[in-house]
Amino acid sequence: MRYVLLSNLKPGMTVARPFYNKNLNILLNEGMTLSEKHLISLDRIGLHGIYVHDEFSTGIKLATVIDDKSKMVFAGAVNNVFEGVGKTLPPDHGILKDVIKDLVGQVSDNRDTVVNMLDLKQFDDYTFQHSLNVCILSIVVGVQLELSGKALESLALAAVYHDIGKLKVPHAILNKPGRLDEKEFEMMRQHPALGVEYLKSIGELNTFIEMGVLQHHERYDGSGYPKGLKGKQISEFARIISIVDAFDAITSKRSYKDSFLPSEAIEYIMANVGLHFDYDITKVFLTRILPYPDGISVELSNGLRGVVVKNHEVFPMRPVIKIIPKNVAEPSFLLDLSSSKAITITITRIIE
Ligand SMILES: [Fe+2]
Repeated sequence: MRYVLLSNLKPGMTVARPFYNKNLNILLNEGMTLSEKHLISLDRIGLHGIYVHDEFSTGIKLATVIDDKSKMVFAGAVNNVFEGVGKTLPPDHGILKDVIKDLVGQVSDNRDTVVNMLDLKQFDDYTFQHSLNVCILSIVVGVQLELSGKALESLALAAVYHDIGKLKVPHAILNKPGRLDEKEFEMMRQHPALGVEYLKSIGELNTFIEMGVLQHHERYDGSGYPKGLKGKQISEFARIISIVDAFDAITSKRSYKDSFLPSEAIEYIMANVGLHFDYDITKVFLTRILPYPDGISVELSNGLRGVVVKNHEVFPMRPVIKIIPKNVAEPSFLLDLSSSKAITITITRIIE
């Protein structure tokens, strides 16, 4: 399978990965043929693109830190909790906690797997998808930081709940195209405190979760909110969540901005180390994210083009590329950018 950017998707292509709405109904299933109607929906949702099957990329398998079945169980538990906010009968957070234990176990077992961000985007609802991704990425970072099992479970809960206060912010403000005015921004800035208030009301807080949720918009240089805390005054959970929160948001399309590919989002995160983000945690995070995920098409500095077929755990900038021959009569071949013969060749851009 290979990843095709939205602008290059065509009716007749075969879907390689399923895509859902937040109620877990399948919008696109593996093996389905793309129609004109699908392309219009995908454009509305704002995905970069999707994985499709084709002959050239047969055999490319995506590495994953969480298996598909567990991801769906997790999504169901999160949806249940979110849907229950504000209802008379409080949602069952116990199921979510059990699921999170399982996720922590899986990520710990797959601690060397580097995350393919493109493959994490499988749902059409932003807030929902964002909560899942921030949770998975936070656990990935927490495992690398050698946090205990109990701490990882609390971190995962803080991550899944970090924006739950947004469910109390008016829809028109959340999805406003363009800049918020001062009053609207002030309401938006309330969401960490609103989240904490809600979690307190249902008895789902410990101090670590509270700090993680309340401080996730604090910035390392003190320019964040609500308190303008600096450096290590910000809790470790919040310093982790703020990085993965920004990364997921940058790689998503919103009503007020376009989305960026993982390689571009990595540059943004690097540019803001020490300003918005903690240096040590960022360093760990960047070893866990693939800039050029398997299946993406790239152009190289020697002019050749190809598809990423394999990533190395220790050299994420130097994957193995299946080269598309310029002359169609010639056979394709593999070029491992981590090998000595490719030392002077770099990836210059993502194509298709
Ligand atoms: Fe937030």
